[in-house]
Amino acid sequence: MGEVAAAEERKQSLVFAINGERFQLSECDVDPSITLLDFLRSRTPFKSVKLGCGEGGCGACIVLLSKYDPVLDQVKDSTVSSCLTLVCSLNGCSITTAEGVGNSKDGFHPIQERLVGFHASQCGFCTPGMCVSVFSALVNAEKTNRPEPRPGFSKLTVTEAENAIAGNLCRCTGYRPIADACKSFAADVDMEDLGYNSFWKKGETDEEKMSRLPAYNRLSSNLKFPEFLKKEIKAGADLASKGYHWYSPSSIEKLQSILLKNEADHGTSMKIVVGNTGAGYYKDLQHYDTYIDLKHIPELSVIVKDQTGIEMGAAVTISKAIQVLKDGSDFPLESKTVFEKIADHIEKIASGFVRNSGSVGGNLMMAQRKQFPSDIATILLPVDAIVNIMIGQKLEKLTLEEFLGRPPLDSRAILLSIKIPSCELTEDISTETDTKLLFETYRAAPRPLGNALPYLNAAFLAEVSFSRNSTGASLNSCRLSFGAYASKHPIRARKVEEFLIGKVLSVGLLYEAIKLLETTVIPKDGISHSAYKSSLAVGFLFEFLSPLVSTPDQISGDLCDGDNSSILRDYNSKIKDNNDKLNGTKFPTLLSSSKQNIQSGDDYPPVGQPVTKVGAAIQASGEAVFVDDIPAPANCLYGAFVYSTEPLARVKSITFKSRSPPVGFNALISVKDIPGKNLGCTSIFGEEPLYADEFAQFAGDRIAFVVADTQKHADLAANFAVVEYDKENLNPPILSVEEAVKRGSFLQVPPFLFPEQVGDFSKGMAEADRQILSAEIKLGSQYYFYMETQTALAMPDEDNSMVVYSSNQCPQIAQETIAQCLGLPVSNVRVITRRLGGGFGGKSIRAVSVATACAVAAYKLQRPVRMYVNRKTDMIMAGGRHPMKITYSVGFKESGKITALKLDILIDSGAFPDVSILIPGAIVGSLKKYDWGALNFDIKVCKTNRPSRSVMRGPGEVQASFIADAIIEHVASTLSIEVDTVRSINLHTYNSLGFFYKNAAGEPLEYTLPAIWDQLATSSSFHQRTEMIQEFNRSNKWRKRGISRVPTIMEMTVRPTPAKVSILSDGSIVVEVGGVDMGQGGYTGGSTTSESSCEAVRLCCNVLVERLTALKEKLMEEMGTLEWEALILQAYQISVNLSTNSLFIPDSSSVHYLNYGAAVEVNLLTGETTILRSDIIYDCGQSLNPAVDLGQIEGAYVQGIGFFMFEEYPTNSNGLVTANGTWSYKIPTLDTIPKQFNVEILNSGHHQKPSGEPPLTLAVSVHCATRAAILEARKQLGSWNSEEDPNSKAFQLEVPAVMPVVKERCGLDSVQKFLQWTMGTK
Ligand SMILES: Cc1cc2nc3c(=O)[nH]c(=O)nc-3n(C[C@H](O)[C@H](O)[C@H](O)COP(=O)(O)OP(=O)(O)OC[C@H]3O[C@@H](n4cnc5c(N)ncnc54)[C@H](O)[C@@H]3O)c2cc1C
Ligand code: FES
Ligand code: FES
Repeated sequence: MGEVAAAEERKQSLVFAINGERFQLSECDVDPSITLLDFLRSRTPFKSVKLGCGEGGCGACIVLLSKYDPVLDQVKDSTVSSCLTLVCSLNGCSITTAEGVGNSKDGFHPIQERLVGFHASQCGFCTPGMCVSVFSALVNAEKTNRPEPRPGFSKLTVTEAENAIAGNLCRCTGYRPIADACKSFAADVDMEDLGYNSFWKKGETDEEKMSRLPAYNRLSSNLKFPEFLKKEIKAGADLASKGYHWYSPSSIEKLQSILLKNEADHGTSMKIVVGNTGAGYYKDLQHYDTYIDLKHIPELSVIVKDQTGIEMGAAVTISKAIQVLKDGSDFPLESKTVFEKIADHIEKIASGFVRNSGSVGGNLMMAQRKQFPSDIATILLPVDAIVNIMIGQKLEKLTLEEFLGRPPLDSRAILLSIKIPSCELTEDISTETDTKLLFETYRAAPRPLGNALPYLNAAFLAEVSFSRNSTGASLNSCRLSFGAYASKHPIRARKVEEFLIGKVLSVGLLYEAIKLLETTVIPKDGISHSAYKSSLAVGFLFEFLSPLVSTPDQISGDLCDGDNSSILRDYNSKIKDNNDKLNGTKFPTLLSSSKQNIQSGDDYPPVGQPVTKVGAAIQASGEAVFVDDIPAPANCLYGAFVYSTEPLARVKSITFKSRSPPVGFNALISVKDIPGKNLGCTSIFGEEPLYADEFAQFAGDRIAFVVADTQKHADLAANFAVVEYDKENLNPPILSVEEAVKRGSFLQVPPFLFPEQVGDFSKGMAEADRQILSAEIKLGSQYYFYMETQTALAMPDEDNSMVVYSSNQCPQIAQETIAQCLGLPVSNVRVITRRLGGGFGGKSIRAVSVATACAVAAYKLQRPVRMYVNRKTDMIMAGGRHPMKITYSVGFKESGKITALKLDILIDSGAFPDVSILIPGAIVGSLKKYDWGALNFDIKVCKTNRPSRSVMRGPGEVQASFIADAIIEHVASTLSIEVDTVRSINLHTYNSLGFFYKNAAGEPLEYTLPAIWDQLATSSSFHQRTEMIQEFNRSNKWRKRGISRVPTIMEMTVRPTPAKVSILSDGSIVVEVGGVDMGQGGYTGGSTTSESSCEAVRLCCNVLVERLTALKEKLMEEMGTLEWEALILQAYQISVNLSTNSLFIPDSSSVHYLNYGAAVEVNLLTGETTILRSDIIYDCGQSLNPAVDLGQIEGAYVQGIGFFMFEEYPTNSNGLVTANGTWSYKIPTLDTIPKQFNVEILNSGHHQKPSGEPPLTLAVSVHCATRAAILEARKQLGSWNSEEDPNSKAFQLEVPAVMPVVKERCGLDSVQKFLQWTMGTK
């Protein structure tokens, strides 16, 4: 074929490269709605892209997208989320996945090797995405003309390295080791700041450390755009493709004719796309006949800069817009500043990989048409941005405000461009006044660096004159916009603007303006946190204007601390300082240096040493095979659950919305298709059905299973299912523990599992000087948010047997359940679990029903059936942590010594038993961490019509740790004593430990808590920092800090564990243990699997050594020396049995001790909390592998921060979970973990102490420190508020203490109260 013909043919088809390999698809070959993720996972061998969310919110799926510009002969490389990128938009592009960065065959990239050595990959599900993020940052840094870095380093900076992964979620590691691996490439890194790793030992010089890192060669590590693609692009020139389903018009005229044609073809549905990232929010549930890609129309991608401003085509990506706005060098200072601030703000939108493909126009169209809470719309409003739109042949120029105010534009309307005008001073600058243009933008969001929609955003532009002779500043003009607070569109607060203009700013004026604003920013009825949103608006306006008020230091305190005459001159720098203080610096180095102090054991190497995880490198390259990565067997079908939306109802029928069956539909499996017993799970604690048999028991209960030809079709079909319910003659559902008590709905806890009471409560109460009676605490649930959702693949096998691949912490329970459900002997069922993409308890019992559902469908249809549960369904069905209600009475002495505690605890177990009856024991085991004198309790496990709760990392123990410290805080606030003093007084002595823990107390020397408590005070400079914090709080009005130190003790149970060790004929060894790889080492529950498995293996090895010893001695005598392989060969020849198994049966349980401290800063205007520093000292006993323990401690602690501070898991009034993905469920990210995170692991020399779960309970300290900071805010508020003194009252701080909660506790009207007080004292 000639070049021209080839180019012609290519235009009809799609050509791109993946990891250097050429792919050509003809149009009929590809469904235009298929995403790159689907394509990669279903039609290529590259499985490193993982589906974590499917909505741009997690980074597990990202790839590097390279585009070649033949005119400039330049390649542009950026990360994009493959779950949102449509394959048809990739013509001429080159894609690099983690396998393409490096792999086991061609060699790993140093990024991957360093991720391994820094122990930065646990389950490995997030790791390929992390790897691609850093790779992209490296590639782009190397393109800059920065000075040559030191040999072995790149041109990347530390800040860039951290920002590169700021949008990627990881649920296992706690991020610190990932950040360290990335930073190790940065030119400006201080080697001292890089944390614990397997490359170097403590005390080595920087040069030695550098030499031990896997070498990075800037030139050879660089990315090459495939030459063949360059050639084809040059020959084809035009990247536009035309066809029936997918159009990429190359001019406005061509676009118009396609739109016209489409209009003529009535009934065809059409979707206009640029980056398609909007589909992350507004999920595509409908089929489109035609797609039109706007990226290839030059007018829509052009950027024009002149004195009048910057005009950008609507298809310009947000990343490009940021770049252009940051380079305002051609503009006068006012405009330059405004452009830069706009850029700074939009840099907080989503994450890099969304901004790289999402367009400015797409964002504004979503705001216009669908009321999307856009940041761009709000911040462009006050600068009077102009938009150009095209409707049919008609072009229109509108102000942004007019554009947003129009009724939603129809699908033919095209946004062509957006112009951000230059800003200039309108007033004559007289000698009497200083005049300045001020522009600020604001945003309060659950995460500071983005990937979180704002609760409210705002932008203010004002021209201010400051009279040199008189005392005040006045506004010549001002434009105030507010958005994202569930209004239709961002609004201009015109009444407030008009009120302010022309007046000299004073405290009174500011107060009046704020009163007016309160009547302007009013969120819609029924919106969550609406009062909070209004208070944010007030806070932002106060923050903007208060530095201009005549006595700024008095009024704004830490917001602006300056001398009056220079207010205006210094305004920008003050505001910047102020922003830095309040929001973190513009591009903060997210983490400051952290320390890990680890005592590794050298007695039995490699036991006790930081050995890297086997398989971590293939996790980083994405070659590790998770269940959903197993290639689909021939004939494979896919399933999705149909779940109940009613809490208790009879299921009458299941039909589909449309008359014809959904696309790809194959079967609907329900209870009547189960050949054996209707079982979704069976265990010693009870059973639960696989499918609702007549009655659905809770919203989220499994009703049926739709089977279709692809996962997407199965999910869509399940969405189209219509369930008819009947509630006649049914009792109302039990949706609360109080209702369960009323109706006596409980699960019975067998006496042997019920914890023992300690001491005599009445006697303890009688000894008390003071009492608190019947105080209440409520705790909600937490979702696992494992990065890999529930998944299984079931395949019918010969002779009526079934093989099931399951991502499962309890394969044995799955095997037994499947067998009973299918009516087969257990031996006919094989369950295979190689690794899990995170579990945290959520894949123990809850995973069984997923495996069983696939097995039942596969059995009935006699075809393989698999399922990868989508995130929304997973969140609805998961159940999660047990919510509970606690009522307590406590007696104590004036000194703070507690003499008696009694608790009534109601645990919500949901509809089925799962393992909920274990929770009372776990709660009490952890509650006993303090010496309560006497501890009495009544614990009821309530059966409700809510999803079955399951174990989640630290089940019961985390809640108990919180309850214990909440009680201590309550006692301290009642007595007005320092909380730390009350804690110290109530720590156990060895005697009281024995009284509470009986045999589990161990030997006196094993009780390391008091020593650790003191050590922590010294190592974290606790007392000095407490004083510094007091000083800080005295001199800052709008930020308060708190510090807290908490202990933890957890009672662990070591369970019987089997192992098998076989030596093969070549000398290699197979070790089989009763645990699965969840990333955190072998772990199936209770955190003790590693230690007991190791012991079981050791027992096997003893047997094998004994069997080999005689032969070894004989051969040594004969030959003098002996190689291992030779010994084994000989052993085989004389038929020594080289395989043995054992069961380790522990003889006692153990307890262990830990504790830590944390400091938190709270922003009183927004409720934002920043964890400044955490110090943990953890007694690991004799650590088997300190690297694993460190990973466990940091990871669990960060998961605990999620529980206590961020993760809301709400339901509707039916109990149906309403948080359904990354948009609403916020696990911690790199920007929300402690800025400084110090961990010390003690090797106290006793047996290994588990680290998988206990550290999670330590995160309670972050909550306590937040409470301490809030208490300071309330004291201050009390001093402004003559009517009441909130300091005298103890207050509840809910879990999680999200921003709205914190702000509410600090006083939603604190600004108003303060201004009133200021006016009154003047
Ligand atoms: C995880 C995530 C987090 C986010 N966080 C934020 C945030 O914090 N703040 C914020 O403001 N935004 C946020 N966004 C939104 C993001 O900015 C938009 O998704 C993006 O800008 C849309 O651009 P796009 O090119 O991908 O649009 P597409 O998805 O391609 O299109 C979006 C919609 O606009 C239409 N459309 C696109 N361009 C045009 C045009 N020129 N003319 C007519 N119609 C058009 C499309 O038909 C479609 O209906 C987030 C997005 C994601 C995925
Ligand atoms: S799967 Fe694409 S970002 Fe989460
Ligand atoms: S290692 Fe990051 S999610 Fe498991």
